[in-house]
Amino acid sequence: MKQAKLFVILALCISSLIILYQQLAQLQQTNIVIPNESEESTEPLLTTTPTPTASSALSPLPPIQDKWRVWPPDLRYNSELILFDQLSALDSTLHNLYVTKNPEEADLFYIPFFGSCYLFNCWINNSWNQTKRCQVDTVYLEPLMNYIIQNFVYWNKTNGANHFMIHPMDSSDDYYSKKEMFQNSIYLTTIGDKRNLGYQNFRRYHNIVIPSATPILDTYHIDPLKYVNENGNPFGRDIKGLFRGCCANVNATDAYSDGIRHVIFNGLKGLPGWNIGESSDPEVYAKLLARSKYGLTPSGWTLDTARIWEYIAFGVVPIVIADGIIEPFEDDTDWDSMIVRVRRSDTHRINEILDSISEEYQKKRERVWRIGKYLVFKNGHTWHFIVRNFCRMLNIIKQEVIDIEGYTYYPI
Ligand SMILES: *[C@@H]1O[C@H](CO)[C@@H](O)[C@H](O)[C@H]1NC(C)=O
Ligand SMILES: *[C@@H]1O[C@H](CO)[C@@H](O)[C@H](O)[C@H]1NC(C)=O
Ligand SMILES: *[C@@H]1O[C@H](CO)[C@@H](O)[C@H](O)[C@H]1NC(C)=O
Ligand SMILES: *[C@@H]1O[C@H](CO)[C@@H](O)[C@H](O)[C@H]1NC(C)=O
Ligand SMILES: *[C@@H]1O[C@H](CO)[C@@H](O)[C@H](O)[C@H]1NC(C)=O
Repeated sequence: MKQAKLFVILALCISSLIILYQQLAQLQQTNIVIPNESEESTEPLLTTTPTPTASSALSPLPPIQDKWRVWPPDLRYNSELILFDQLSALDSTLHNLYVTKNPEEADLFYIPFFGSCYLFNCWINNSWNQTKRCQVDTVYLEPLMNYIIQNFVYWNKTNGANHFMIHPMDSSDDYYSKKEMFQNSIYLTTIGDKRNLGYQNFRRYHNIVIPSATPILDTYHIDPLKYVNENGNPFGRDIKGLFRGCCANVNATDAYSDGIRHVIFNGLKGLPGWNIGESSDPEVYAKLLARSKYGLTPSGWTLDTARIWEYIAFGVVPIVIADGIIEPFEDDTDWDSMIVRVRRSDTHRINEILDSISEEYQKKRERVWRIGKYLVFKNGHTWHFIVRNFCRMLNIIKQEVIDIEGYTYYPI
């Protein structure tokens, strides 16, 4: 039997691009804070030199009240950092499989673009005014792209078509007025939308939909296994349906969530077994997740249903209400075996719909726990699925055979 050949993406060896990124940061004297996720303490550091008369001020400061000043903030957009860290970790399986230091043998080139990280920093500096850009184009985007275009021959060979970058926020590349500099490249985005609306810019077959980061898993680093058993807690779930999120005062005719959340807060919330609210402390939320059978993931401003990742990580069956959504890795993942899709027009019938599929519940829950969880960033397999999508785009038929705990993904 012939062994499947290793498929290697990425050239511009990633370490040279890390250097590139650092050089640029120095050159431009930007202060782009990339959070070190393991240093999460929000305790203020006391750096004053104590003097005998200052003793009354030498007690710990109270916690910061404004959550946006805490770094890292409730950040669900840091997929770009997580994916970069996972692939660039030397000696990791992913790095050994997919990264080459020889650009000549690379199929694709990774642009280490951290635009959302820059913009978060900008918004934190500006009281969370999300219309601010802090010159992201001139200070960050243009120098980065010029460096790649001027110093390496690979961009010009295809005008960037074999380069890729990550856009993890709602508006994809729309934050950047110079986006035409990189628009020819492949995007990894957290929103997949087949509605073909004028204002949404998902480019089907030119983008790859990736999972989102979520605060509870990727900022607070809560470990689901501390809340559910190894088997995913099949029978200890007494909450029928859970939802935590915006906005209790949405009206049925509002554009936000196309009114879906109006039904959630004004209809489902009053029914037995439902636990619905706008926010929860992370620990409290984790406990609720462990007790819930189903979790609602309605659309918001976009079809990004970020909550799906925390549901999956805790073994909760997601109810997706987002007509037109493309979930990540649909070509390799049988989403319908794990989730319940409800049309917007059926939102008011959700309770009945769940009652009518009660026997299917255990099957879906088991699929979520056994298969769904491998799609969550924390479990380290996301790049395998991304690469399979790259292979389809590039028409590469000899791929890595991926074996994830007994589920084998053969070449396409
Ligand atoms: C993050 O912080 C931890 C603990 O201080 C350290 O071991 C690790 O190397 C840091 N990671 C990065 C990427 O700086
Ligand atoms: C945010 O403020 C800090 C401190 O003034 C500054 O160094 C940094 O460059 C600002 N970030 C952006 C994106 O403008
Ligand atoms: C947000 O920033 C924009 C652009 O600088 C400005 O026009 C607007 O007034 C700001 N909004 C608030 C609430 O400060
Ligand atoms: C790529 O093309 C641009 C535009 O023509 C040019 O300015 C640049 O020098 C070229 N890059 C390389 C490495 O030759
Ligand atoms: C929703 O509609 C009610 C009644 O028409 C109105 O009083 C309320 O202000 C509206 N709420 C929002 C958020 O628009």
